[in-house]
Amino acid sequence: MAYAFTRVNASTGYVIGWNSARRDQAGPRKKVDNSSPETVTPGRALTAPLRPVMLAVMDVSSDPTPDPRLRVNLGGLDLRNPVLTASGTCGYGPELADLLDYRRLGGFTTKSVTLEERPGNDPQRVVEVRAGLLNAIGLANVGLQRFLVEKLPFIRTMPTVVLVNVAGQRVEDYVAVAAALDEHACIAGIELNVSCPNVADGLSFGTNPVRLRQVVAAVRKELRRAKLVVKLSPNVTDIAELARAAVDGGAQILSLVNTYVGLSIDPDTWRPRLANVTGGLSGPAIKPLALYNVHRVYREVARPAGIPIIGMGGIQNAADAVEFLLAGAAAVAVGTTLFVDPTAPLKIAAGLAEYLTARGLPHVAALTGQLQLGAAENCTPTAHVPS
Ligand SMILES: Cc1cc2nc3c(=O)[nH]c(=O)nc-3n(C[C@H](O)[C@H](O)[C@H](O)COP(=O)(O)O)c2cc1C
Repeated sequence: MAYAFTRVNASTGYVIGWNSARRDQAGPRKKVDNSSPETVTPGRALTAPLRPVMLAVMDVSSDPTPDPRLRVNLGGLDLRNPVLTASGTCGYGPELADLLDYRRLGGFTTKSVTLEERPGNDPQRVVEVRAGLLNAIGLANVGLQRFLVEKLPFIRTMPTVVLVNVAGQRVEDYVAVAAALDEHACIAGIELNVSCPNVADGLSFGTNPVRLRQVVAAVRKELRRAKLVVKLSPNVTDIAELARAAVDGGAQILSLVNTYVGLSIDPDTWRPRLANVTGGLSGPAIKPLALYNVHRVYREVARPAGIPIIGMGGIQNAADAVEFLLAGAAAVAVGTTLFVDPTAPLKIAAGLAEYLTARGLPHVAALTGQLQLGAAENCTPTAHVPS
């Protein structure tokens, strides 16, 4: 199936579809100007012509009474529904505020915050690839102090559960940022982005079980209130080993997956399309890979330990979300799809409610981990038939 990555064209304001049907409706595909060093943020990309349409669709005046069948308790976080935004694809909150009705969102995850402000990588930092996006933003962010002064006031007003994603280069960095954030009641959870190299030894926290356990334990010790989410990198040989290390260190919730390392080369120039050479692949291209990782982590680590999973990777619609729930996720997060349709999380939540009605299911939690394996039930999740 041919996917085309969808983007709102900055000059025309029209949407170019993920799939051929949407593209046909939208007209011919336009070349996207991607030269800006800025992070792709939907608030920036979605230009004036689209906003009135989006606002009309949202019907912000109506009372968003939550559907009790969608309410989930995610490791102590009380979510109105199991659909969150994924870190780095929705800014710090204000960027999507006039497009996405936060009163209807299960939860919001900020982009990564580090101890010091970071300018990020040189452009190009984002490139569109088949069925996905390759990004090497380089953790561009305002840093802890500016986050507290400039971003927190808005977060305090957000009518949804907010997780702040934290990244670092040293254990002490993670601890300092997490401890400072824990002081603020409007931050319900801290998500550790461990897909970062440790400057002390060059080993990525997220690919080394010893380092991972160490950083998770050090952060957990500091937290008095906020729940600790650990976001796993898929760029490992055995993700279950890393999930185990995170749980041993004190993770209360696991989120997976972060992006897959990838490369895109321009055949005209023979050069990498990203200034950073490699980038992280996201979007529908990674969905089966992410789903497999959720399946494995659920069966081997999360289910036995009683730790809930936030599943993510290429989720575009309610059917995708159902797949992640069946594989073992208790909630899902939507990332790259926000660049196509910032209201997607609300549509996915509504689609889940319809799915429950159609199937006569009492609650969304009835889906978690219900993948039916039949005779394969006793096989380890790693087993596969070579092609
Ligand atoms: C442009 C972009 C920026 C991202 N920035 C972050 C980040 O700052 N921290 C983080 O933990 N994950 C970041 N991610 C990863 C997403 O949160 C998510 O794990 C990944 O994209 C898979 O989900 P998706 O396919 O729905 O996008 C970023 C992804 C994209 C596309």
